[in-house]
Amino acid sequence: MTSRTLLRLSVVAVLASGLISAGCGGSASKDELVIGEYGSLTGNDATFGQSTKNGVEVALEELTAQKQGKIGGLPVRVQVEDDQSKAEEAATVVQKLINQDRAIAVLGEVASSRSLAGGPICQNAGVPMISPSSTNPRVTQVGDYIFRMCFLDQFQGTVMARFTAQNLKLRKVAILKDSKNDYSVGLARFFTEAFTGLGGSIVTEQAYQSGDNDFRAQLTAIKAKNPEAIVVPGYYTEAGLIARQARELGLKQPLIGGDGWESEKLIEIGGDALNGCVYTNHWALDLQEPRLQAFLKTYRDKYQGDPDAIGGLAYDAANVLFGALEKLAEQDPQTFKGLASSKAGSDARKAAEKRLRDLIATTTSYPGVTGTITLDENRNASKPAVVIEIKGGKKTYNSSFNP
Ligand code: PHE
Repeated sequence: MTSRTLLRLSVVAVLASGLISAGCGGSASKDELVIGEYGSLTGNDATFGQSTKNGVEVALEELTAQKQGKIGGLPVRVQVEDDQSKAEEAATVVQKLINQDRAIAVLGEVASSRSLAGGPICQNAGVPMISPSSTNPRVTQVGDYIFRMCFLDQFQGTVMARFTAQNLKLRKVAILKDSKNDYSVGLARFFTEAFTGLGGSIVTEQAYQSGDNDFRAQLTAIKAKNPEAIVVPGYYTEAGLIARQARELGLKQPLIGGDGWESEKLIEIGGDALNGCVYTNHWALDLQEPRLQAFLKTYRDKYQGDPDAIGGLAYDAANVLFGALEKLAEQDPQTFKGLASSKAGSDARKAAEKRLRDLIATTTSYPGVTGTITLDENRNASKPAVVIEIKGGKKTYNSSFNP
């Protein structure tokens, strides 16, 4: 074959492939709504990402059963990315979801530090992000495209303080926080403000970093101050180990945690050392709320196990997003079409994203399985918190606090 024939052949090939892609790239065949999801499927906090994934899958399954998995005629696809429990990785996978997968909206993250890494990327791209469960106040301050389905840590810290001071009637506590975790640092501060406001005092504040597994030095320092309780505003892996090591060192005081303790692995790691400990949470499975109980049944049938609160919040987040998409498709089908995958990067996409954002922002009295969700002008939800008590290796409902 001469080089001239080769050239001619390749010109024909290029033309042909151009024609083919022009034929398929239009609206007819492959248009879909791509929703991005990022979470810690592996790494230090792996149950957070797995629970998010499970919750979103239940919502998707219901969409498939009720509407053939479509909204406004377009099939919905959720693209899930693992950030390995690392903030830098969260930023990388959100970039990928937006630039490569052309996601129209993003669900995630659970951990505030990772939502703070992914949020600015969504905000700059004009892609709405809904965090199911990041409670640090700064998460939604990133901008007007960032939403959350849960209460904030000012409230959570106050609930922990009130429970400690008023229900447990304790006055002197120690804090052991994760100094590399925005949630933990914030919650420690909000707890301190509320607790000292109630007449309590913090006898010592000690710190560790996520991934640590020896807390004996900090616990020994705490023991020397003889507090009545130890507040541990961190995540379940470390909280479980801290409980064990505290008991080994002869510390018998209750440990008091926040929602970061919420994981099926908590009691696996901490065992009996956690009996008598309490933590604040978004729900308690033994509450007889009809919507919660219906979700529980569906979830148990599908996964043969209980969801944690993250599963419920992720389910609610996905449904709020689906609801906003449905509304847009009904109210303004022309603008809605801008969300189709073939419109990625266009002005039509930008306009549609803006409308989608506006519709999510108007979420009012949404009947979630984690409670009723109304978003305020700062795109935050305001919901009651529950206190869970660990007794005989089981999580049981203790009390509720209203905002
Ligand atoms: N609220 C925690 C954070 O902001 C995340 C979390 C939510 C963990 C719910 C467990 C359960 O980092």
